[in-house]
Amino acid sequence: MSAYLLLVNRTHPLNPDYIPKDLTEPRIPFQAPPGCPKRLLRAQAATAAEELFQKAYQQGLSLWGISGFRSYTRQKEIYQNSRSSYVAPPGCSEHQTGLALDVSCPAAEFDLTEDFAKTREYEFLENYGPIYGFILRYPRGKENITGYAWEPWHIRFVTKTPALYLSFSNITLEEYHQL
Ligand code: DAL
Ligand code: ZN
Repeated sequence: MSAYLLLVNRTHPLNPDYIPKDLTEPRIPFQAPPGCPKRLLRAQAATAAEELFQKAYQQGLSLWGISGFRSYTRQKEIYQNSRSSYVAPPGCSEHQTGLALDVSCPAAEFDLTEDFAKTREYEFLENYGPIYGFILRYPRGKENITGYAWEPWHIRFVTKTPALYLSFSNITLEEYHQL
């Protein structure tokens, strides 16, 4: 199984010390300042994100990165301060894999809320994300399967062929791992 299909959720946690070795900063606009770990993704995901964002700009859209990599320690801090259904317990966030990216846009005021799904940028992600290897990881209606709330802003790199397969079949990464 490809490392890019790694399943991380409430029942499949990562080790606290897991940190990908090939983290790098994609050349895409971020709200976070340069040097912030939030700007990091694994190398192949970073290249794919650059290509995806480039395609969005060609279509007159304005996609922004909000949050990529998060260490176990950082996730623990966020979890302890929030405990909402949106936040994964430490070890259970796929942001720790360096393959997940939260995105937003000016039309959604750079927020991570369901309103992002009303934007043209979201529609673009639905249509073009899989072509660049990204899936919408937490779809509406699949909350019982993923274990997390609908998050239209959270994209996950799985490489191109699996992303196309998952999106055309309308199945989550959890369902894929059970096939
Ligand atoms: N919001 C997602 C589930 C996370 O905290 O990883
Ligand atoms: Zn996320």
